[in-house]
Amino acid sequence: MSLQSRIANHGDNSSRLDDSHLVSGYRVKLLEEIDLAEMSTLSLHERRARLERVLGHIISREGPVLSTAERAQLVRRVVDEALGLGVLEPLLEDASITEIMVNGPEHVYVERSGRLERLHHVRFTSHEQLMQTIERIVSTVNRRVDESTPMVDARLKTGERVNVIIPPLSLTGPILTIRRFPRAYALHEMVALGSLDEHMVMLLSSLVRASFNIIVSGATGSGKTTLLNALSGLVPEHERIVTIEDSAELQLQQSHVITLESRPANVEGNGQITIRDLVRNSLRMRPDRIIVGEVRGGETLDMLQAMSTGHDGSLATVHANNVDDALTRLQTLASMSDVDIPFAALHDQINSAVDVLVQLTRFADGSRRISEIAVLDSHGRDEYRLVSLARFDAGPMGADGRVPGHFTHLPLPPRAAERLRMRGEAIPAAFGVAQYEEQLAIREAR
Ligand SMILES: Nc1ncnc2c1ncn2[C@@H]1O[C@H](COP(=O)(O)OP(=O)(O)OP(=O)(O)O)[C@@H](O)[C@H]1O
Ligand SMILES: [Mg+2]
Repeated sequence: MSLQSRIANHGDNSSRLDDSHLVSGYRVKLLEEIDLAEMSTLSLHERRARLERVLGHIISREGPVLSTAERAQLVRRVVDEALGLGVLEPLLEDASITEIMVNGPEHVYVERSGRLERLHHVRFTSHEQLMQTIERIVSTVNRRVDESTPMVDARLKTGERVNVIIPPLSLTGPILTIRRFPRAYALHEMVALGSLDEHMVMLLSSLVRASFNIIVSGATGSGKTTLLNALSGLVPEHERIVTIEDSAELQLQQSHVITLESRPANVEGNGQITIRDLVRNSLRMRPDRIIVGEVRGGETLDMLQAMSTGHDGSLATVHANNVDDALTRLQTLASMSDVDIPFAALHDQINSAVDVLVQLTRFADGSRRISEIAVLDSHGRDEYRLVSLARFDAGPMGADGRVPGHFTHLPLPPRAAERLRMRGEAIPAAFGVAQYEEQLAIREAR
């Protein structure tokens, strides 16, 4: 007998009840009986255990007679709902899941170790139940989602980033995408994951300490924020750092850090503060370094100006597929500013602002690696000249589903090497300058 028909047999007018009424009825009773203030001091695991115990008492006291399996199912659903995000709660609890994707009530996917997986056993009972969960999420951050605002970005209190898009924009039903708050990795942990090697760690550490302006480039989800965080961790303790992001994900350990976060417009469409507003404001805050989570609009020009006028050692990320594209993209974004700047002047701006580009690539096996480190070695209005310092040469995917490959290292151009030396930084042996002229000749001959 199904849970629903069992309940229908139980009470006087309960034949009108369906599962979701039953679940929400018990949820209300459960919330009446627990001490919310005390609950907030417990971990998610403890909260679940507490709710299960209290609900068990309530069902024994006033509920229908249920089989062990039915009872367990009812308890699970009520507790999932009471905890806030219904069937998503256990997924949020699972640390191996980095992303949760809900495509309408019946299709739930997760990303684990860089790979997508469909979870056939997880589903919402209806379109309405999924919408309720979505509304619960966005209302906690004072946003709303409906036909007039069918697209919303929000962040859960626990840091997860949420995007919602609903019909009529989505023809696949309400879509919910939850990105877990990215775990911070130190560069040496990324070495263990195969994302770079020890020589590159030494090089990047020297470049950050010597205040090179660095742009991290990559596609969505390629690990830009994670690398930006690791690089930021190398900034010396005595410097004043201002970080600027759309949703604060960086987790800097230094003591002198100011964290700024942009703000979307409120429900009435007012009060928006953009990344650009924050970059401009940060210039009046005497920063030693400005770290911008991602440039994607006119703020790029302000960022480039800051980089070339005394805020050396600044860091930012940009969305691009390789280092050459990253430069073109920076140029396009900078030209989106309201200041009308001639093309050649933008070229000049980028040549003098950007010192190093670090490209991230997400490979077919889900791994994220630094696929190139390049120095921008051109001046003034010259054509961009990128000199590659490190590369990942990938081989074809093996039978084990892994993408093999190795890192190669190339010598630093003399100007960059000199700058490191002037800052008291050793040149890591793998990037020694001795063969530079020779390499240059080979490259130019090609
Ligand atoms: N080097 C790495 N090795 C393994 N996993 C990584 C690595 N870097 C990042 N990740 C994981 O990949 C996911 C995406 O990382 P991250 O948020 O840094 O990417 P992103 O490029 O900033 O994405 P977006 O474009 O959406 O801002 C996270 O789950 C993160 O933990
Ligand atoms: Mg990011």
